[in-house]
Amino acid sequence: MITVSLISLGCAKNLVDSEIMVGHLHQAGMKVIPDAERADVVIVNTCSFIDSSKEESIGHILEVHENRGLRKRRREQKLIVAGCMSQRFSKDLSGSLPEVDAFIGLDQITKVAPIIEQIFATERADKDAPASFVTPRSSFIPDYDTPRFRLTPSHFAYIKIAEGCNHPCTFCIIPQIRGRHRSRTVASVVAEARQLVAEGVREINLISQDTTFFGMDTWEERPNPRTPVDSTRGTALTSLLRELNAIEGDFWIRILYTHPAHWSDELIRTIAECPKVVRYVDMPLQHISDRMLKLMQRETSGDYIRNLVRRIRAGIPGIALRTTFIVGFPGETDADVDELCEFVKEARFERLGVFRYSQEEGTRASKMEEQISPKEKERRWHRVMALQKDIAAEVSASSVGRTVRVLVDEAGVARAEADAPDIDGRVYVPRELPVGRFAEVLINAYHDYDLLALPRGQVPAEYKVAKQAQ
Ligand code: F3S
Repeated sequence: MITVSLISLGCAKNLVDSEIMVGHLHQAGMKVIPDAERADVVIVNTCSFIDSSKEESIGHILEVHENRGLRKRRREQKLIVAGCMSQRFSKDLSGSLPEVDAFIGLDQITKVAPIIEQIFATERADKDAPASFVTPRSSFIPDYDTPRFRLTPSHFAYIKIAEGCNHPCTFCIIPQIRGRHRSRTVASVVAEARQLVAEGVREINLISQDTTFFGMDTWEERPNPRTPVDSTRGTALTSLLRELNAIEGDFWIRILYTHPAHWSDELIRTIAECPKVVRYVDMPLQHISDRMLKLMQRETSGDYIRNLVRRIRAGIPGIALRTTFIVGFPGETDADVDELCEFVKEARFERLGVFRYSQEEGTRASKMEEQISPKEKERRWHRVMALQKDIAAEVSASSVGRTVRVLVDEAGVARAEADAPDIDGRVYVPRELPVGRFAEVLINAYHDYDLLALPRGQVPAEYKVAKQAQ
Protein backbone atom coordinates (compact mmCIF):
# COMPACT_ATOMS: atom_id res chain seq x y z
CA MET A 1 0.00 0.00 0.00
CA ILE A 2 1.37 3.45 -0.96
CA THR A 3 1.87 5.75 2.03
CA VAL A 4 1.55 9.51 1.58
CA SER A 5 2.39 12.39 3.87
CA LEU A 6 1.00 15.88 3.22
CA ILE A 7 2.37 19.21 4.44
CA SER A 8 -0.31 21.90 4.19
CA LEU A 9 0.85 25.53 4.11
CA GLY A 10 -0.97 28.83 3.56
CA CYS A 11 -4.55 29.76 4.29
CA ALA A 12 -7.76 27.90 5.12
CA LYS A 13 -8.64 27.73 1.40
CA ASN A 14 -5.47 25.76 0.81
CA LEU A 15 -6.28 23.59 3.84
CA VAL A 16 -9.61 22.61 2.25
CA ASP A 17 -7.68 21.65 -0.90
CA SER A 18 -5.40 19.51 1.28
CA GLU A 19 -8.47 17.88 2.83
CA ILE A 20 -9.81 17.09 -0.65
CA MET A 21 -6.48 15.54 -1.65
CA VAL A 22 -6.45 13.38 1.50
CA GLY A 23 -10.08 12.34 0.84
CA HIS A 24 -9.15 11.18 -2.66
CA LEU A 25 -6.01 9.39 -1.45
CA HIS A 26 -8.12 7.43 1.06
CA GLN A 27 -10.67 6.66 -1.61
CA ALA A 28 -7.91 5.23 -3.82
CA GLY A 29 -6.74 2.96 -0.98
CA MET A 30 -3.57 4.90 -0.16
CA LYS A 31 -2.55 5.45 3.44
CA VAL A 32 -1.97 8.99 4.70
CA ILE A 33 0.58 9.20 7.50
CA PRO A 34 1.87 12.16 9.52
CA ASP A 35 5.56 11.23 9.39
CA ALA A 36 7.05 12.55 6.11
CA GLU A 37 10.26 10.57 6.58
CA ARG A 38 8.44 7.24 6.49
CA ALA A 39 6.17 8.00 3.52
CA ASP A 40 6.52 6.77 -0.07
CA VAL A 41 5.26 10.13 -1.30
CA VAL A 42 5.39 13.58 0.26
CA ILE A 43 3.07 16.32 -1.02
CA VAL A 44 3.88 19.92 -0.10
CA ASN A 45 0.75 22.03 -0.61
CA THR A 46 2.29 25.47 -1.03
CA CYS A 47 1.33 29.14 -0.61
CA SER A 48 2.56 31.93 -2.85
CA PHE A 49 0.85 35.02 -1.46
CA ILE A 50 3.91 37.06 -0.53
CA ASP A 51 7.68 36.56 -0.52
CA SER A 52 7.78 35.09 2.96
CA SER A 53 5.16 32.46 2.05
CA LYS A 54 7.15 31.46 -1.05
CA GLU A 55 10.33 31.19 1.04
CA GLU A 56 8.50 29.04 3.58
CA SER A 57 7.18 26.77 0.81
CA ILE A 58 10.62 26.37 -0.79
CA GLY A 59 12.13 25.73 2.66
CA HIS A 60 9.74 22.80 3.21
CA ILE A 61 10.40 21.36 -0.27
CA LEU A 62 14.17 21.43 0.25
CA GLU A 63 13.87 19.97 3.73
CA VAL A 64 11.86 17.01 2.45
CA HIS A 65 14.42 16.48 -0.30
CA GLU A 66 17.39 16.66 2.09
CA ASN A 67 15.77 14.18 4.46
CA ARG A 68 15.22 11.62 1.74
CA GLY A 69 18.88 11.97 0.68
CA LEU A 70 20.01 11.27 4.24
CA ARG A 71 18.03 8.08 4.52
CA LYS A 72 19.09 5.49 2.01
CA ARG A 73 15.82 3.64 2.27
CA ARG A 74 13.92 6.80 1.38
CA ARG A 75 15.83 7.73 -1.77
CA GLU A 76 12.93 6.35 -3.79
CA GLN A 77 10.51 8.65 -2.05
CA LYS A 78 8.55 10.88 -4.47
CA LEU A 79 8.17 14.59 -3.86
CA ILE A 80 5.10 16.38 -5.25
CA VAL A 81 4.55 20.11 -5.07
CA ALA A 82 0.91 21.27 -5.14
CA GLY A 83 -0.98 24.46 -4.32
CA CYS A 84 -0.67 28.13 -5.17
CA MET A 85 3.09 28.29 -5.74
CA SER A 86 2.92 25.32 -8.07
CA GLN A 87 -0.03 26.83 -9.96
CA ARG A 88 1.75 30.17 -10.27
CA PHE A 89 5.33 29.17 -11.04
CA SER A 90 5.46 25.54 -12.17
CA LYS A 91 7.23 26.45 -15.44
CA ASP A 92 9.96 28.49 -13.74
CA LEU A 93 10.26 26.09 -10.83
CA SER A 94 10.88 22.91 -12.80
CA GLY A 95 14.28 24.35 -13.82
CA SER A 96 15.23 25.61 -10.38
CA LEU A 97 13.82 22.74 -8.30
CA PRO A 98 14.93 19.54 -10.08
CA GLU A 99 14.56 17.76 -6.69
CA VAL A 100 10.79 17.73 -7.23
CA ASP A 101 9.23 14.74 -9.01
CA ALA A 102 6.03 16.45 -10.07
CA PHE A 103 4.10 19.70 -9.88
CA ILE A 104 0.33 19.59 -9.70
CA GLY A 105 -2.01 22.57 -9.91
CA LEU A 106 -5.27 23.59 -8.23
CA ASP A 107 -7.40 21.65 -10.71
CA GLN A 108 -5.54 18.40 -10.09
CA ILE A 109 -6.40 18.00 -6.39
CA THR A 110 -9.05 15.38 -7.18
CA LYS A 111 -6.65 13.52 -9.48
CA VAL A 112 -3.81 13.23 -7.02
CA ALA A 113 -4.05 9.42 -6.63
CA PRO A 114 -3.80 8.53 -10.37
CA ILE A 115 -0.99 11.08 -10.70
CA ILE A 116 0.95 9.31 -7.93
CA GLU A 117 0.44 5.97 -9.67
CA GLN A 118 1.65 7.47 -12.93
CA ILE A 119 4.79 8.87 -11.27
CA PHE A 120 5.65 5.45 -9.83
CA ALA A 121 5.02 3.82 -13.20
CA THR A 122 7.31 6.21 -15.08
CA GLU A 123 11.09 5.83 -15.04
CA ARG A 124 12.74 9.16 -14.44
CA ALA A 125 16.40 9.73 -15.24
CA ASP A 126 18.34 12.19 -13.06
CA LYS A 127 18.60 14.67 -15.92
CA ASP A 128 14.83 14.70 -16.59
CA ALA A 129 12.90 17.78 -15.54
CA PRO A 130 10.07 17.26 -13.00
CA ALA A 131 6.74 16.29 -14.54
CA SER A 132 4.17 19.07 -14.59
CA PHE A 133 0.47 18.31 -14.44
CA VAL A 134 -0.52 21.97 -13.92
CA THR A 135 -3.22 23.34 -16.22
CA PRO A 136 -3.64 27.11 -16.63
CA ARG A 137 -6.74 29.08 -15.56
CA SER A 138 -8.00 27.11 -12.61
CA SER A 139 -11.73 26.40 -12.74
CA PHE A 140 -12.33 23.64 -10.15
CA ILE A 141 -14.85 24.14 -7.37
CA PRO A 142 -15.73 21.40 -4.84
CA ASP A 143 -19.27 20.18 -4.19
CA TYR A 144 -20.92 18.77 -1.07
CA ASP A 145 -20.12 15.20 -2.08
CA THR A 146 -16.50 15.79 -3.12
CA PRO A 147 -14.45 13.27 -1.12
CA ARG A 148 -12.76 15.12 1.72
CA PHE A 149 -11.08 14.18 4.96
CA ARG A 150 -11.16 17.00 7.49
CA LEU A 151 -7.83 18.02 9.02
CA THR A 152 -9.34 20.46 11.55
CA PRO A 153 -10.38 19.34 15.06
CA SER A 154 -13.68 17.45 14.85
CA HIS A 155 -15.76 20.32 16.27
CA PHE A 156 -14.99 22.93 13.60
CA ALA A 157 -14.86 22.92 9.84
CA TYR A 158 -14.31 25.19 6.87
CA ILE A 159 -16.72 25.25 3.93
CA LYS A 160 -15.40 26.75 0.73
CA ILE A 161 -18.51 28.42 -0.71
CA ALA A 162 -16.76 29.82 -3.79
CA GLU A 163 -13.37 29.83 -5.43
CA GLY A 164 -11.42 32.45 -7.40
CA CYS A 165 -11.70 36.22 -7.37
CA ASN A 166 -12.87 38.92 -9.81
CA HIS A 167 -11.47 41.90 -7.91
CA PRO A 168 -8.81 44.05 -9.54
CA CYS A 169 -6.71 44.84 -6.40
CA THR A 170 -3.35 45.97 -7.78
CA PHE A 171 -1.25 44.38 -5.00
CA CYS A 172 -2.71 40.88 -5.12
CA ILE A 173 -1.64 37.90 -7.17
CA ILE A 174 -4.36 35.51 -5.97
CA PRO A 175 -6.86 36.13 -8.83
CA GLN A 176 -4.13 35.15 -11.30
CA ILE A 177 -3.52 31.95 -9.35
CA ARG A 178 -7.02 30.90 -8.39
CA GLY A 179 -8.91 32.13 -11.47
CA ARG A 180 -12.27 33.87 -11.90
CA HIS A 181 -14.84 33.77 -9.13
CA ARG A 182 -17.16 30.77 -9.24
CA SER A 183 -19.78 30.08 -6.59
CA ARG A 184 -21.32 26.88 -5.42
CA THR A 185 -25.10 26.76 -5.17
CA VAL A 186 -26.91 27.51 -1.92
CA ALA A 187 -28.25 23.93 -1.96
CA SER A 188 -24.75 22.45 -2.25
CA VAL A 189 -23.39 24.47 0.68
CA VAL A 190 -26.45 23.73 2.82
CA ALA A 191 -26.14 19.98 2.09
CA GLU A 192 -22.50 20.07 3.22
CA ALA A 193 -23.34 22.05 6.36
CA ARG A 194 -26.14 19.61 7.29
CA GLN A 195 -23.72 16.71 6.97
CA LEU A 196 -21.13 18.48 9.14
CA VAL A 197 -23.64 19.38 11.84
CA ALA A 198 -24.87 15.76 11.85
CA GLU A 199 -21.24 14.69 12.42
CA GLY A 200 -21.05 16.93 15.50
CA VAL A 201 -19.40 20.05 14.05
CA ARG A 202 -20.16 23.07 16.24
CA GLU A 203 -18.54 25.82 14.18
CA ILE A 204 -18.86 26.28 10.44
CA ASN A 205 -16.47 28.78 8.89
CA LEU A 206 -17.59 29.99 5.46
CA ILE A 207 -14.61 30.86 3.27
CA SER A 208 -13.72 31.97 -0.25
CA GLN A 209 -11.63 34.87 -1.63
CA ASP A 210 -14.67 37.15 -1.20
CA THR A 211 -17.61 35.58 0.61
CA THR A 212 -19.82 38.62 -0.01
CA PHE A 213 -19.56 37.98 -3.76
CA PHE A 214 -21.11 34.54 -3.25
CA GLY A 215 -23.71 33.91 -5.96
CA MET A 216 -23.16 37.22 -7.72
CA ASP A 217 -21.19 35.59 -10.53
CA THR A 218 -24.32 33.67 -11.50
CA TRP A 219 -26.35 36.85 -12.01
CA GLU A 220 -26.90 38.05 -15.55
CA GLU A 221 -23.67 38.89 -17.32
CA ARG A 222 -22.59 42.46 -16.86
CA PRO A 223 -21.39 44.12 -20.09
CA ASN A 224 -18.11 44.94 -18.41
CA PRO A 225 -17.00 42.61 -15.59
CA ARG A 226 -15.26 45.58 -13.94
CA THR A 227 -18.62 47.40 -13.51
CA PRO A 228 -19.40 47.35 -9.78
CA VAL A 229 -22.13 44.92 -8.81
CA ASP A 230 -25.39 46.53 -7.68
CA SER A 231 -25.35 45.59 -4.00
CA THR A 232 -28.84 47.01 -3.43
CA ARG A 233 -30.16 43.80 -4.98
CA GLY A 234 -29.11 41.91 -1.92
CA THR A 235 -26.80 38.97 -2.18
CA ALA A 236 -27.09 35.25 -2.42
CA LEU A 237 -25.09 35.17 0.78
CA THR A 238 -28.15 36.40 2.66
CA SER A 239 -30.24 33.47 1.36
CA LEU A 240 -27.43 31.10 2.27
CA LEU A 241 -27.12 32.47 5.81
CA ARG A 242 -30.86 32.23 6.42
CA GLU A 243 -30.91 28.61 5.22
CA LEU A 244 -27.87 27.67 7.30
CA ASN A 245 -29.39 29.38 10.32
CA ALA A 246 -32.50 27.20 9.92
CA ILE A 247 -30.53 23.94 10.22
CA GLU A 248 -31.36 22.35 13.56
CA GLY A 249 -28.58 21.82 16.04
CA ASP A 250 -26.26 23.56 18.46
CA PHE A 251 -23.65 25.23 16.25
CA TRP A 252 -22.53 28.66 15.10
CA ILE A 253 -21.62 30.05 11.68
CA ARG A 254 -18.72 32.39 10.98
CA ILE A 255 -18.26 34.35 7.75
CA LEU A 256 -14.64 35.04 6.83
CA TYR A 257 -13.09 37.20 4.07
CA THR A 258 -15.88 39.65 3.21
CA HIS A 259 -15.18 42.55 0.82
CA PRO A 260 -16.48 46.00 1.82
CA ALA A 261 -17.70 46.76 -1.73
CA HIS A 262 -20.39 44.08 -1.56
CA TRP A 263 -21.98 44.67 1.80
CA SER A 264 -25.67 45.57 1.68
CA ASP A 265 -28.23 46.62 4.30
CA GLU A 266 -29.92 43.29 3.64
CA LEU A 267 -26.72 41.47 4.65
CA ILE A 268 -26.48 43.52 7.86
CA ARG A 269 -30.15 42.78 8.64
CA THR A 270 -29.69 39.08 7.90
CA ILE A 271 -26.73 38.70 10.27
CA ALA A 272 -28.64 40.60 12.97
CA GLU A 273 -31.66 38.31 12.52
CA CYS A 274 -29.77 34.99 12.41
CA PRO A 275 -28.77 34.00 15.95
CA LYS A 276 -26.50 31.19 14.74
CA VAL A 277 -24.32 33.64 12.79
CA VAL A 278 -21.66 34.87 15.20
CA ARG A 279 -21.38 38.57 15.98
CA TYR A 280 -18.08 38.77 14.11
CA VAL A 281 -17.22 40.32 10.79
CA ASP A 282 -13.96 39.75 8.95
CA MET A 283 -13.62 42.57 6.40
CA PRO A 284 -10.13 43.40 5.07
CA LEU A 285 -10.17 47.15 4.30
CA GLN A 286 -6.48 47.58 3.33
CA HIS A 287 -6.52 51.40 3.73
CA ILE A 288 -8.73 54.41 4.38
CA SER A 289 -7.02 57.15 2.35
CA ASP A 290 -8.82 57.78 -0.95
CA ARG A 291 -5.49 58.09 -2.77
CA MET A 292 -4.38 54.68 -1.55
CA LEU A 293 -7.73 52.99 -2.11
CA LYS A 294 -7.68 54.26 -5.68
CA LEU A 295 -4.12 53.12 -6.34
CA MET A 296 -4.95 49.75 -4.78
CA GLN A 297 -8.17 49.60 -6.87
CA ARG A 298 -10.21 48.64 -3.87
CA GLU A 299 -13.53 49.76 -5.43
CA THR A 300 -14.36 51.69 -2.26
CA SER A 301 -13.65 55.17 -0.82
CA GLY A 302 -12.82 56.41 2.66
CA ASP A 303 -16.31 57.87 3.14
CA TYR A 304 -17.96 54.68 1.93
CA ILE A 305 -15.92 52.61 4.40
CA ARG A 306 -16.57 54.95 7.36
CA ASN A 307 -20.26 54.87 6.60
CA LEU A 308 -20.30 51.07 6.22
CA VAL A 309 -18.53 50.57 9.58
CA ARG A 310 -21.15 52.82 11.22
CA ARG A 311 -24.02 50.91 9.55
CA ILE A 312 -22.62 47.52 10.60
CA ARG A 313 -22.11 48.63 14.21
CA ALA A 314 -25.59 50.17 14.38
CA GLY A 315 -27.30 47.24 12.66
CA ILE A 316 -25.63 44.35 14.51
CA PRO A 317 -25.32 45.20 18.22
CA GLY A 318 -22.32 43.58 19.90
CA ILE A 319 -20.50 42.95 16.62
CA ALA A 320 -16.72 42.44 16.73
CA LEU A 321 -15.01 43.82 13.62
CA ARG A 322 -11.79 42.29 12.29
CA THR A 323 -9.89 44.00 9.53
CA THR A 324 -6.46 44.18 7.93
CA PHE A 325 -4.54 47.12 6.52
CA ILE A 326 -1.50 47.35 4.26
CA VAL A 327 1.16 49.93 5.03
CA GLY A 328 4.01 50.92 2.73
CA PHE A 329 2.04 50.58 -0.52
CA PRO A 330 3.83 52.46 -3.36
CA GLY A 331 3.27 56.20 -3.10
CA GLU A 332 1.92 56.09 0.46
CA THR A 333 2.81 59.32 2.28
CA ASP A 334 3.01 60.22 5.95
CA ALA A 335 -0.31 62.03 5.51
CA ASP A 336 -1.92 58.75 4.33
CA VAL A 337 -0.56 56.95 7.39
CA ASP A 338 -1.81 59.80 9.65
CA GLU A 339 -5.26 59.36 8.16
CA LEU A 340 -5.08 55.61 8.68
CA CYS A 341 -4.07 56.07 12.34
CA GLU A 342 -6.94 58.52 12.90
CA PHE A 343 -9.34 55.99 11.42
CA VAL A 344 -7.96 53.16 13.58
CA LYS A 345 -8.56 55.32 16.67
CA GLU A 346 -12.04 56.27 15.54
CA ALA A 347 -13.25 52.84 14.36
CA ARG A 348 -11.77 50.92 17.30
CA PHE A 349 -11.60 47.55 15.58
CA GLU A 350 -11.87 44.67 18.00
CA ARG A 351 -9.37 42.72 15.89
CA LEU A 352 -6.82 44.22 13.53
CA GLY A 353 -3.87 42.96 11.51
CA VAL A 354 -1.37 45.08 9.58
CA PHE A 355 0.68 43.85 6.63
CA ARG A 356 3.80 45.49 5.26
CA TYR A 357 3.25 45.83 1.49
CA SER A 358 5.03 43.07 -0.46
CA GLN A 359 6.11 43.83 -4.04
CA GLU A 360 4.75 40.81 -5.88
CA GLU A 361 6.00 39.96 -9.33
CA GLY A 362 3.15 39.94 -11.84
CA THR A 363 0.98 42.49 -10.02
CA ARG A 364 0.36 46.04 -11.26
CA ALA A 365 1.51 47.58 -7.99
CA SER A 366 4.90 45.93 -8.34
CA LYS A 367 5.56 48.13 -11.38
CA MET A 368 4.47 51.35 -9.69
CA GLU A 369 7.02 54.02 -8.97
CA GLU A 370 7.64 55.34 -5.47
CA GLN A 371 8.14 51.94 -3.85
CA ILE A 372 8.70 52.40 -0.11
CA SER A 373 11.88 51.18 1.58
CA PRO A 374 11.67 48.16 3.92
CA LYS A 375 12.82 50.35 6.82
CA GLU A 376 10.04 52.86 6.25
CA LYS A 377 7.45 50.07 5.91
CA GLU A 378 8.63 48.73 9.24
CA ARG A 379 8.33 52.15 10.89
CA ARG A 380 4.75 52.58 9.60
CA TRP A 381 3.84 49.05 10.66
CA HIS A 382 5.05 49.71 14.22
CA ARG A 383 3.15 52.98 14.32
CA VAL A 384 -0.23 51.40 13.52
CA MET A 385 0.41 48.29 15.62
CA ALA A 386 1.35 50.33 18.70
CA LEU A 387 -1.90 52.22 18.40
CA GLN A 388 -3.92 49.05 18.07
CA LYS A 389 -2.20 47.39 21.04
CA ASP A 390 -3.79 49.91 23.40
CA ILE A 391 -7.19 49.60 21.70
CA ALA A 392 -7.00 45.79 21.89
CA ALA A 393 -6.20 45.96 25.61
CA GLU A 394 -9.22 48.21 26.17
CA VAL A 395 -11.41 45.85 24.15
CA SER A 396 -10.19 42.89 26.25
CA ALA A 397 -10.68 44.84 29.49
CA SER A 398 -14.28 45.59 28.51
CA SER A 399 -15.01 41.82 28.47
CA VAL A 400 -14.06 41.38 32.12
CA GLY A 401 -17.08 40.77 34.31
CA ARG A 402 -19.13 39.50 31.35
CA THR A 403 -20.46 36.01 30.84
CA VAL A 404 -19.60 34.83 27.34
CA ARG A 405 -20.34 31.74 25.30
CA VAL A 406 -17.20 29.91 24.26
CA LEU A 407 -16.37 26.86 22.19
CA VAL A 408 -13.75 24.71 23.91
CA ASP A 409 -10.92 23.86 21.45
CA GLU A 410 -8.72 21.82 23.79
CA ALA A 411 -8.48 21.18 27.53
CA GLY A 412 -8.36 24.63 29.16
CA VAL A 413 -8.45 26.64 25.89
CA ALA A 414 -11.54 28.05 24.18
CA ARG A 415 -12.65 30.74 21.75
CA ALA A 416 -15.50 33.22 21.97
CA GLU A 417 -17.66 34.47 19.07
CA ALA A 418 -15.09 37.20 18.39
CA ASP A 419 -12.24 34.71 17.89
CA ALA A 420 -11.81 32.96 14.55
CA PRO A 421 -9.75 29.75 14.65
CA ASP A 422 -5.98 30.25 14.19
CA ILE A 423 -6.41 34.01 13.74
CA ASP A 424 -7.68 35.69 16.88
CA GLY A 425 -7.25 35.44 20.65
CA ARG A 426 -8.11 32.70 23.11
CA VAL A 427 -10.14 32.32 26.27
CA TYR A 428 -8.46 30.24 28.99
CA VAL A 429 -11.09 28.21 30.83
CA PRO A 430 -11.19 25.48 33.52
CA ARG A 431 -9.60 22.28 32.16
CA GLU A 432 -12.59 20.17 33.11
CA LEU A 433 -14.88 21.80 30.50
CA PRO A 434 -15.56 19.23 27.75
CA VAL A 435 -13.57 19.74 24.53
CA GLY A 436 -15.63 20.46 21.39
CA ARG A 437 -18.61 21.77 23.39
CA PHE A 438 -20.01 25.20 24.11
CA ALA A 439 -19.84 26.61 27.63
CA GLU A 440 -20.88 29.83 29.36
CA VAL A 441 -17.96 31.33 31.29
CA LEU A 442 -17.40 34.46 33.35
CA ILE A 443 -14.38 36.49 32.17
CA ASN A 444 -12.30 37.66 35.13
CA ALA A 445 -8.95 38.73 33.65
CA TYR A 446 -7.14 39.53 30.38
CA HIS A 447 -3.69 39.78 28.87
CA ASP A 448 -3.31 41.56 25.50
CA TYR A 449 -5.65 39.67 23.15
CA ASP A 450 -6.43 36.73 25.46
CA LEU A 451 -9.14 36.45 28.07
CA LEU A 452 -9.27 34.35 31.20
CA ALA A 453 -12.19 32.63 32.91
CA LEU A 454 -10.46 30.82 35.77
CA PRO A 455 -10.84 30.77 39.54
CA ARG A 456 -8.91 33.71 41.07
CA GLY A 457 -6.17 31.55 42.55
CA GLN A 458 -5.28 30.23 39.07
CA VAL A 459 -4.83 33.62 37.36
CA PRO A 460 -1.17 33.97 36.23
CA ALA A 461 0.68 37.11 37.37
CA GLU A 462 0.84 38.74 33.91
CA TYR A 463 -2.95 38.81 33.64
CA LYS A 464 -4.81 41.94 34.59
CA VAL A 465 -7.76 41.31 36.86
CA ALA A 466 -10.47 43.96 36.80
CA LYS A 467 -11.66 45.37 40.12
CA GLN A 468 -15.15 43.87 40.05
CA ALA A 469 -13.67 40.41 39.50
CA GLN A 470 -11.19 40.49 42.37
FE1 F3S B 1 -4.09 31.02 0.33
FE2 F3S B 1 -1.53 31.50 -0.06
FE3 F3S B 1 -2.99 30.58 -2.00
S1 F3S B 1 -2.91 32.74 1.13
S2 F3S B 1 -5.06 31.36 -1.65
S3 F3S B 1 -2.53 29.53 -0.09
S4 F3S B 1 -1.44 32.16 -2.18
